[in-house]
Amino acid sequence: SIHHGGSRGALIVLEGLDRSGKTSQCSRLVSHLEGKGISVEAWRFPDRKTDIGTMISSYLANISQLDDQAVHLLFSANRWEKRLSMETKLRSGTTIVVDRYSYSGVAFSAAKGLDIEWCKAPETGLIAPDLVIYLDLPPEEAAKRGGYGTERYEQLEFQRNVAQQYQKLRDSTWKVVDAQLPVEDLEMQLRKFALECIATCQKKTISPLWP
Ligand code: TMP
Repeated sequence: SIHHGGSRGALIVLEGLDRSGKTSQCSRLVSHLEGKGISVEAWRFPDRKTDIGTMISSYLANISQLDDQAVHLLFSANRWEKRLSMETKLRSGTTIVVDRYSYSGVAFSAAKGLDIEWCKAPETGLIAPDLVIYLDLPPEEAAKRGGYGTERYEQLEFQRNVAQQYQKLRDSTWKVVDAQLPVEDLEMQLRKFALECIATCQKKTISPLWP
């Protein structure tokens, strides 16, 4: 695909509660951008393919137990181990669409009662997203979508708490979209935000979290 000489790719993050539709919107968005000849990759966190990701995965499946602080740092380390390749990709002109990032890291751990500033600290210095799209869905609606599986965090009360924590993390890079819109409408909104972001971020330098 096209590499616009010298310009960098955008870091676009999708966030939201479990069952908010992030994963399907991520792949729809990436397909659309690819179709436009834009160099783009789909990423996700946790990246379960690394050694750290394997530990996280068995924790989420309730196969292993870890204390809340330890697992928080594993999620963070899982982003740190990908930081360099993320920066390299962005600099080479590739846009990255990420399913979850540091906001999930902080929101889920803070929802367990960990101090929010403590939760943010290990994320400091990771690459700041150019755009965060938050798929807004009431926790009750998420629960109704069914398919809350057997993973550790898929509980209504907990998701309510996660939603509250997410609100504390909203900043100027966030676009909040109504996840209850028909998928096609949602898809159109995401395309518009993503294309605007890709066009404008080329003039901005890559900067660190958290400003
Ligand atoms: P996934 O379903 O998107 O693979 O995410 C797995 C679960 O992990 C989900 O409930 C959100 C949670 N999570 C954290 O607790 N901390 C993190 O840093 C990330 C990326 C996800």
